[in-house]
Amino acid sequence: MRYFPILLCLLLLSACENVDRDLWSQITYKPQESPRKFNPVNSVPRFGARKDYSEVEGATLEAPAPLSGLSAKGKGLYDIYCAVCHGATGHSDTPVAAKMDVEPFDLTGESTAALTDGEVFIKILASDTVMPNYRNELTDDEAWAVTAYVRTLSGG
Ligand code: HEC
Repeated sequence: MRYFPILLCLLLLSACENVDRDLWSQITYKPQESPRKFNPVNSVPRFGARKDYSEVEGATLEAPAPLSGLSAKGKGLYDIYCAVCHGATGHSDTPVAAKMDVEPFDLTGESTAALTDGEVFIKILASDTVMPNYRNELTDDEAWAVTAYVRTLSGG
C-alpha cells in the first residue's frame, strides 16, 4: 500500500479533464479569426460621419494638398497598419502574406506605380477585396499620408 498516495493522486488528476485550461477555451472569436467582424451597418464613428469613398472613382480623385512632406508621417502609419502584409519595404514577403490565398501585391512593382494617388487612397479607405480597408482606423489626412509613403515605395 506504499503506492496508495500516488494512485490516489492519479485518480484525483483524472477528474481534471473537464476543467477548462483558462478563459481562452470558450466559444468566442479569437483575435484574427474568421469571419472578419465589420461594424454594424449605419454605425457612426465617434468622430462623426464621414464621406464614403466606396463609390468614388479613384482615378478622378486629387489629393487636397501636395503629398510631398507627408511620407514620414505615412511611414509611421504604414508600419502599424500595412507592414504586417506588405512588409516594411513593400515587397509583401511577410509570413502573413505567405498564408493568404490571394497574396498581397508587391507595392514596389509596376502595377502599384501605375495607380494614381487617388486610387491608392481609395484602396486604403474603401478596399472591398481580401485586403481590409482602414475607413475606421485612418482619417482622410492620414490616408493621404500613407498614400504619400506608398508612392515612395513604388517610385510612382
Ligand atoms: C491583411 C493583409 C493586408 C493588409 C494589412 C494590407 N493589405 Fe494591401 N493588399 C493586400 C492584398 C491581398 C492585396 C491584393 C489583392 C487586393 O487588391 O485585395 C493588396 C493590394 C494593395 C494595393 C494595390 C496594389 C496594386 O498594385 O494594385 C495597395 C496600393 C495596397 N494593398 C496598399 C495597402 C496599404 C497602404 C495598407 C495599409 C493601410 C495595406 N495595403 C494593408 C493585403 C493587405
